[in-house]
Order: sequence, then structure tokens, then C-alpha cells
Amino acid sequence: MPTPLLPAIEAPTAPFPWVPRWRTLLTSLAMARDPIGNLNRAHAAHGDTVGLHLGGIRPCYVTRDPALVQHILRQHHRRYLKSDLTHGLIRYIGRGLLTNEGPDWLRQRRLIQPAFHRQRLAGLTRLMQAAAEEWTQELQARTATGPALVDIHEAMTRVAFRIIAQATFGTSMSDAERDRLSDILTQIQAFYVRTIRQPYLRPWLQGTGSYRRHEALSRELRELVRTYIRKRQRAGTSPATPHNDLLQMLLDVRYEDTGEPMMEEQLVDEANILLLAGHETSANALSWLFYLLAEHPEAAAQIRQERAAAGLAHRAPEFEELARLPYSMQVIQETMRLYPPAWILDRVALEDDEFQGHPFPKGTLFSLYIYGLHRHPTLWPAPNAFRPERFAPGAQPPVPAYAYLPFGGGPRLCIGNHFALAEIQLVLLETLRHFTVAPITKEEVVPVPLVTLRPQEGVVLQFERLA
Ligand code: HEM
Repeated sequence: MPTPLLPAIEAPTAPFPWVPRWRTLLTSLAMARDPIGNLNRAHAAHGDTVGLHLGGIRPCYVTRDPALVQHILRQHHRRYLKSDLTHGLIRYIGRGLLTNEGPDWLRQRRLIQPAFHRQRLAGLTRLMQAAAEEWTQELQARTATGPALVDIHEAMTRVAFRIIAQATFGTSMSDAERDRLSDILTQIQAFYVRTIRQPYLRPWLQGTGSYRRHEALSRELRELVRTYIRKRQRAGTSPATPHNDLLQMLLDVRYEDTGEPMMEEQLVDEANILLLAGHETSANALSWLFYLLAEHPEAAAQIRQERAAAGLAHRAPEFEELARLPYSMQVIQETMRLYPPAWILDRVALEDDEFQGHPFPKGTLFSLYIYGLHRHPTLWPAPNAFRPERFAPGAQPPVPAYAYLPFGGGPRLCIGNHFALAEIQLVLLETLRHFTVAPITKEEVVPVPLVTLRPQEGVVLQFERLA
């Protein structure tokens, strides 16, 4: 068990309590092993915003104060940028919506936003449903002779990648091409996390050619995506062969100011970012969802009842019908409260700023601790309990303001939030239509907080055909 952090020594100029540096140096290994446990203890000891040195080196305020989070993400968002932790991805993935900043970001966001409007999503839900069916057919085969044990994170990563790749590039991409894209992104991401988590390994990684290898992977990724874009441009689109995917939309849109289309390299960046931002987060949300339903069969039963009451027991719902299944959405919301895939967000002050009389200088690094916010002991009754009905309309107490941010907040709110909720709901409904899900051990699954919050390796659940 990692040693708890000691009480803070408040430096005279520090606006918030500050954990002494020697202390974070001593506990840096424990912090790397169990960041969530350590951050929770720091907040319990010192309050909702606490200064500490990340990895024993880098000064940072970690906050679970909804007012400060709102200050940074919404009210004064212009005074903050993402930090080099996010910008470092540009080297491998490119400068797309997630990694871009300033006027360039705003111009791209305005251009791309319409692709995620409800009407467009309605078109994309058909392929989400097809991916959900492909997964349940696989499960049918695996459960032919009895219950099947499924590595849920592995399965949901495949389902989520299929959905985002098809939504982005259409259905004509081969399985081999899609698998290669997924493989490259997984390798790049794992390597990037390593360089951030263990910065002292960088010289060694340099010496052994790891940086070079991953840059080569990044070039391969760009080449694959570029080739695909060119293929689409050559094929064109016609009323007989319409392409209702995100790529076609990115090709068709024009900047308001110039009337020009997006440059090819920008298109590659944006497509890469959609693949990256849109698969691991959704895969994690889905994995946690089935894990919680295995623990709470009563919630799964209620989802089936709701569906039957809505007259949808025997067919997949259309996009417009999803809203008639509010309890299933509450289960998803509660899952993302307990296990927010984006568990921590980073921001740096672009200029001197102050919050409730606490001044802090330009360059101050903030970690917005979404996991801590979602389980805040005084903001949520029974914060660690699974209670989907917290999200029911008119629930008392209501969801506290700026304490529930699975998709972030302010102008940089996730552009794919409705997309993600629709795909998760469809995969959930399709699965529960045919199967029950149960745990195979009583052990609690430990969350692994990397860039996103995933379950520990090899979480296996038991799926069985419904009688
Ligand atoms: C459960 C699934 C998802 C979760 C929890 C999630 C979470 C988030 C969060 C918290 C942010 C804000 C990051 C920040 O402010 O630093 C974000 C941004 C973003 N997400 Fe998602 N996301 C999900 C699914 C998706 C999907 C499916 C897509 C694409 C189809 C997507 C595309 C993006 C993009 C492009 C951004 C950057 C937006 C911008 O800054 O303008 N996300 N996401």
C-alpha cells in the first residue's frame, strides 16, 4: 500500500496548499503506481486544490474544485492552453482539433462541427448498429455450446475502432487496412504514454531507436490515411453512390472566409485525430459499462424492461427512438461518472490569472482531476455507489454544476459526445437483447489511469445467451 501524503507545508507565496517537494519525490514511485489513490489522499488531506510536483519534478496544481474547473474550461478559457502533455501528440498524430490551439483551432472547429449535428449522426447510427450486430454475431458463435468468457476490453476496443473507422472512412476499407490503422495507433499511444510517464527513459529510448521507429509508424499512418483520401477524391461521390461518412463531409466543407476546401495535410491530421480521440475513450466506456452491468444484473433487467415497454424488444432502435430509453442512458452516464475515460485534463495559464483572490502566474500547470470531481465526497451522495437514477430527470439532489464532465466543458467540449453516447447505447442494447453478462470473480477491477482510464489487463466477463 503506498504511503499517504503528509500534511502540507504552505509556502508563503503559494495560493493553494502545497505538498512539499521532498514528499512528492519520496512518493513519486507510489504516485506512478497508483495516481488515483495518491491524488485522492492529497485532496482529502489538503482540500480541493493542491500543489504538487508531478514525478517529483514538475510543479502542478491538481484540482477537483468545480468552480476552478469552470473558471479554466469556460469562464476564462482564453487564458489557458492545453499543455505540452497534449501538444506532444502532434509529433505523431498531427495538429487536429484535439491538439490544435487558438484561431486555427477555432476555424477548424467551426468547419467540422456540422459533421456532428444530429441529422448527420442519424445517418451514422446505421453503421454503428451494423458493428454492434457483428459483435453480437461473434458472441452467438462463441456461446453456441454454453457461456463464453470474453476479454471485455479487447472486444470493445475492436468494436469501437470498427465504428470510428467506418464512420470516418466509410465501409469500403478492408479489415486488414483497419487492423493496421488500429495497430499503429495503439503502438504510438503506448510509446507516447511511456515517454510521459517515465521521462528518465528518454535517452535510452533515443539510443535504442524507439523514437525513430515510432516516427516511422507515424509516417505509415499518414500515408495510409492520405492514400485513402486520394482514393475517395478520385472515386468522387454521386447520388447513386453517396458517401455519408465524416471523410466526405471533411472533403465537401469550405471555409467561410475563403470558400476554399481543407488542405490535404490538414485533412490527414483531422482524420487521424478523430480515429485517436474516438476509439479508446469509447472502448473504455463500453468496457466499464459491461463490467458494472455484470455486477448489477438488476440494472440490466431494468434496461430490458424499459425496452420492452417502449415496444422495442425485438428490433434495434432508430436514432430518434434512443431518447425513448432514458434509463439505459442513465446507466451509461453513471458508468462515465464512476469511470470517466478522460479522467484528467491538462491546462497551462497563458497569462497571469487569479481565482477567488488566489493569484497565479503565467505558465502555471493545472491538472483538472475529473475522476476526483466525479466522486467528490461532499458533492455526490454515496459517491462510490452505482446509482443510475441520479441522472433521472428531476432527481434529488440534482447533478451538481460542473461536477460531471465526462466530455470536458466550455468551447473545447468533446465534439464527438453525441456520437459516443449513441454508439455506446446501441452496442449496449444490442448486447443485452441477446445475452446476459456476469462476473467471473468477486475481485474489484482496478482502473489503470494512462491517457485514458482503462480497466486493468485481461478483465474477463461471462456472456450467456438469454433463455
Ligand atoms: C466515451 C467517449 C468519449 C469521451 C469520454 C470523450 C472525452 C473527451 C474530452 C474530455 C474531451 C476534451 C479534452 C480537453 O478539453 O482537454 C474530448 C475532446 C475531443 N473528442 Fe472526445 N470523447 C469521447 C468520444 C469521442 C468520439 C467518438 C470522437 C469522434 C468521433 C471524439 C472526438 C473528440 C475531439 C475531436 C476532441 C477535441 C475537440 C476540440 O478540442 O475541439 N471523442 N473528448
